[in-house]
Amino acid sequence: MININENFLDLQDSYLFSTIAKKVAKFQEENPNKKVIKLGIGDVTLPLAKNCVEAMKLAAEDLSRKETFMGYGPEQGYDFLRSKILEYDYKSRGIDIDIDEIFVSDGAKCDTGNIVDIFSKDNRVAITDPVYPVYIDTNTMSGRAGKYNELTGKYENIIYIPCTAENNFEPELPTEKPDIIYLCFPNNPTGTVLDRSQLKKWVDYAKECKAIILYDSAYEAFITEDNIPHSIYEIEGAKDVAIEFRSFSKTAGFTGVRCGYVVIPKRLNGYTKNGESISLNKLWNRRTCTKFNGVSYITQKGAEAVYSEEGQKQINKNIDYYKENARIIKKGLEEAGYTIFGAVNAPYIWLKLPDNVKSWDFFDKLLNEVQIVGTPGVGFGPGGEGYFRLTAFGNREDTIEAMNRIKNWQ
Ligand code: MLT
Repeated sequence: MININENFLDLQDSYLFSTIAKKVAKFQEENPNKKVIKLGIGDVTLPLAKNCVEAMKLAAEDLSRKETFMGYGPEQGYDFLRSKILEYDYKSRGIDIDIDEIFVSDGAKCDTGNIVDIFSKDNRVAITDPVYPVYIDTNTMSGRAGKYNELTGKYENIIYIPCTAENNFEPELPTEKPDIIYLCFPNNPTGTVLDRSQLKKWVDYAKECKAIILYDSAYEAFITEDNIPHSIYEIEGAKDVAIEFRSFSKTAGFTGVRCGYVVIPKRLNGYTKNGESISLNKLWNRRTCTKFNGVSYITQKGAEAVYSEEGQKQINKNIDYYKENARIIKKGLEEAGYTIFGAVNAPYIWLKLPDNVKSWDFFDKLLNEVQIVGTPGVGFGPGGEGYFRLTAFGNREDTIEAMNRIKNWQ
């Protein structure tokens, strides 16, 4: 008899964005003549930068010739891409990392989900609440979350760190001691950020607890303010305590192409039960070589093109477009009388719902009455109840129309 991994039974019924997609599909089926504007999942809408497309075409040509054909690539990624990442994303900010500390992957969702493989089941996990659901779900699957409590909306073994308007979205150091701490800044879903001194507190705390910070900086390209760090390694001591996740999805429109990377400093250690310290870089490398055959050559050539002069110009143009959408949404919602957060250093706008309205009720009302799709805050955890997320990744006309619909809505 085949036994299943029963941890899966502790998951909520369906992944947040699949639930939303189903609800929207049902509405559209029942109302074929209504134009629905989707500002729910953070998926990009602008076409890829021409430079990336050209590079991928050339890469496909390489594969068509005997002399330039490529089979399996290095599991960790080609050095032509890793060296660009090193130079442009780190050295340019004064951060010194080595090329073999970078692992190219098929995206931050997979990396943040897969990383749990190298940690003990007994580790206590701390997350900010609300949070990107992948962090919770993958720890549930691997048995670290414990049972779900319907009343509180929390898993019994997870340490929830509230991030709400009451504490200005700055997570406080928890009273219970965690081993693994997830931080995502600019934050998904709230769009809020931590400045250097706020992030330094977490680095020092992790050091003190011998904990690790899993730092998701997938949205760093949307930072507009100078005092906000783009990488956790801008903070002194972070290389001793943090793994960083990055993605080309939002930065270069690769949500469908799939490419990202994770940085694991070689001096970063975990411990055995006997207290022996073990390199996490080595463990991840071992896992990667066993379970992954690398990102396709074509994709990595496309990602490399992001760093060319022309590529940088093109992706920045797209990022500016989304930033302008964020400003339009912020202004539109404020004019409509809502209190909003985020939007300045992130492509997400976090809306406080008035009169204790519940997030899913607002979702239904917004879809049924003005045909706009957003993401209910509670879908990101109990701390998101009473909030609602809109993304700046829509196209301009839809974004403007959505704001007009909301302003004219009663
Ligand atoms: C989101 O909407 O939160 C993101 O698009 C999800 C993701 O990047 O996987």
